[in-house]
Amino acid sequence: MKQLFITDVSPRDGLQNQALHLSTQDKRWLIEALSDSGIPRIEATSFVSPTGVPQMADAADLLAAVTGPASDKLCVLVPNSKGLFRAQDAGAREICVVLSATETMNQRNIRMGMAQAVSACLDVLQQAQEAGLRTRAYVAVAFACPFEGQTSPDLVMQLSKQMADAGADEVVIADTIGAAHPSQVSNLMGDLINTMGADRLGLHLHDTRGLGLANAWAAMQVGVNRFDSSAAGLGGCPFAPGAAGNLATEDLAWLAHESGYETGIDIPALLQVVEGLSMRLKKPLGGRSYAWLKQHFSKVSAEPHHALPGKQA
Ligand code: COA
Ligand code: ZN
Repeated sequence: MKQLFITDVSPRDGLQNQALHLSTQDKRWLIEALSDSGIPRIEATSFVSPTGVPQMADAADLLAAVTGPASDKLCVLVPNSKGLFRAQDAGAREICVVLSATETMNQRNIRMGMAQAVSACLDVLQQAQEAGLRTRAYVAVAFACPFEGQTSPDLVMQLSKQMADAGADEVVIADTIGAAHPSQVSNLMGDLINTMGADRLGLHLHDTRGLGLANAWAAMQVGVNRFDSSAAGLGGCPFAPGAAGNLATEDLAWLAHESGYETGIDIPALLQVVEGLSMRLKKPLGGRSYAWLKQHFSKVSAEPHHALPGKQA
């Protein structure tokens, strides 16, 4: 069966923009519950400025708190060398650097111009590799930038190649503000697959304009099989105006299972994570399919001799 490898980014992308700050213990619950639902990799937190993103100030404490199988599945975002050192000290084994594809977004996000951001990312990748860490390199605002409009696909190709040549284990193309449409996605991801193959290529989608699943499907059609998504569709970037929630993990997992892909995710268990998140963040949450999925799986589990939840697809 075809596999789709999903990284859930809700503890980082999801929580970094929430007015209500979850406690370290609640974040630990989220990460361990995501892991128990079968999510193979989780972006746990970011080692960024606690003044810039106070929601992530407990990054080191959080890594220390997570135990069990979840602790082998974590990656963390680092914006610069200082973040890498902090992450290493805290025992991180996989880091993500963020390079934006426009000058202004780099300035807003990590306070560096493009040239400086490229060289800082290359330095961090090299330092991380020397320390034996796995690495992911985001190419952010890869389709459109909230400050500069449409992004040049040629530039995204060039930056992706630079990150791949620098040995990034995965290059993740990010539609940071959820502005891409399916033909753009299939063109760019198809070109990238032709140059670097699918094994090291990921796609990070937001669902701002309702095209998250359509974009995921377009990417799947050209062979992309690694995606970032967020439980409950929680997400957004404090430095990118207009960025709404990420593509919801429950929506993507449902699409994948219905289309004959294996994800390892138990959807009913994931729905319980969404419910727990909703309770902790004190608001109704959930992807586009959430209400229907809940009803569907509660009926399935009420039937005698039902198939194992999440396994029938
Ligand atoms: N972690 C913690 N503190 C950090 C840090 C990091 N990774 N990088 C810098 N700092 C601290 C510095 O030590 C300094 O502290 P001080 O004022 O107590 O001396 C302060 O931040 C300013 O340092 P400077 O190097 O001038 O950084 P900056 O002001 O240019 O900010 C970032 C750079 C990257 C730290 C900041 O822009 C940031 O955290 N951005 C967050 C990006 C993000 O999370 N985006 C969303 C995800 S894509
Ligand atoms: Zn994002």
